[in-house]
Amino acid sequence: MKKFSMPSLLTGRFITGIDLGSSKFCCWTGAWEKEEEVKIIGAGHAASKGIEGGNLVDVGALESQITAAIYEAERQSNVQIHQAVVTLNGHFFYSDYHVLKSPIYEGVVTQKLLDHLWNRFVSRHQDYLPLHFIPLEFCVDDQDRIKDPRGMSGINLMCYCHVVWVHKGRFNTLVECLKRCQIQLSGLLLGLYSSGLACLTSDERELGATVIDMGAQSTGMGFFFQGRLVGSKLVKLGGNHITQDIARGCETPIQHAERIKVLYGAALPTLNDHKEMIPMAPLGGGDTMGQTARSFLINIIQARCEEICRMMKTKLDEMYSAHPFACQRIVLTGGASQLPGMRELVAQVLERPVRVAKSYPLKQAPRVCGEFSAVSGTFFYQETFNDFQCSALSSLIPNHRSKSFWNRLNALFKK
Ligand SMILES: Nc1ncnc2c1ncn2[C@@H]1O[C@H](COP(=O)(O)OP(=O)(O)OP(=O)(O)O)[C@@H](O)[C@H]1O
Ligand SMILES: [Mg+2]
Repeated sequence: MKKFSMPSLLTGRFITGIDLGSSKFCCWTGAWEKEEEVKIIGAGHAASKGIEGGNLVDVGALESQITAAIYEAERQSNVQIHQAVVTLNGHFFYSDYHVLKSPIYEGVVTQKLLDHLWNRFVSRHQDYLPLHFIPLEFCVDDQDRIKDPRGMSGINLMCYCHVVWVHKGRFNTLVECLKRCQIQLSGLLLGLYSSGLACLTSDERELGATVIDMGAQSTGMGFFFQGRLVGSKLVKLGGNHITQDIARGCETPIQHAERIKVLYGAALPTLNDHKEMIPMAPLGGGDTMGQTARSFLINIIQARCEEICRMMKTKLDEMYSAHPFACQRIVLTGGASQLPGMRELVAQVLERPVRVAKSYPLKQAPRVCGEFSAVSGTFFYQETFNDFQCSALSSLIPNHRSKSFWNRLNALFKK
């Protein structure tokens, strides 16, 4: 039985984020320090099991690995975790665009009318739940580009929105699985949205930027403009595919391929690669280590990285026609983005300025690199809520919190 010195009443001061990635699960606990600052006080990690590219494939394995990550975070922080904001990627979600229309019955747009529009929209979709409802533009009669139509007079209202959906069955499975781990879901976030919150500056999100998260089984692209996630695209290739190519090409076990990728790999060749020989464990065992030229390894990696970049370019160009500003600047993150030369290769193929995300705006984050962008972003997800997003989430996650405990307490005293 676990024992904690921290009284559970105080747990509102703490905030927990869980990232269910295809290579690892992360559970980070943070404490609100000052008004807006979070300090990481516990970070648990466990190998990913039971989830493949966002598909839940083995709930038992998923549960035991989530428990392992949570337990480690609790042990380090000495705080009992009851609630968490969860993020994941891949097939768990899909996103699309909709145009919602309604007559303005009372002559003025009210919250009641927006709720009516929203409820009618949700009831049309039986199998999917709208997780992120992001209005891109409202129109009242012939006035367009309206950010918030409440209080405006007119006859007809139109809303053009970006919606991220989650399958009801998968969502319920996840909620039940977390319940068995004694965790209540306090928020759910598309992994790319989360990575964008952690890696992009608020100026980048406002002016337009694309976050590219190169994960283990997929590479996601999240498009931000005017502070909102205006689109997302997924390429079903990631770091694991590079590792498998190395294992096949160099005829070496997958574990060794993963190791030499991290130690000697690069996305682009350099002049002396052919002179450097690297040790290669033979496939099927055996005592004698073989040797391979580093240039051979890099050729394999480069071919797969170029394929990923070309697929991204196709999706980026699709997006460019609808939201040109959202695609201008590229910020690279995710484990696979750490390959030397990846930034240059992505910039070359996508023909846009690229920077690699380096640090997270969190105190005492355990490591400062791409793999933890999604979990880091969970600590900022409340900040992005607008009234419409809040109404979408409250129907999905009844106990979701729109502000930290301290913020709410402050607001109470200010009243
Ligand atoms: N230093 C490194 N150099 C090259 N590749 C790396 C490095 N570190 C991690 N990777 C690769 O990054 C991938 C894991 O990235 P990440 O942790 O972002 O994925 P994930 O979040 O678990 O998966 P996903 O986002 O696809 O669900 C693995 O394929 C791993 O081999
Ligand atoms: Mg990830």
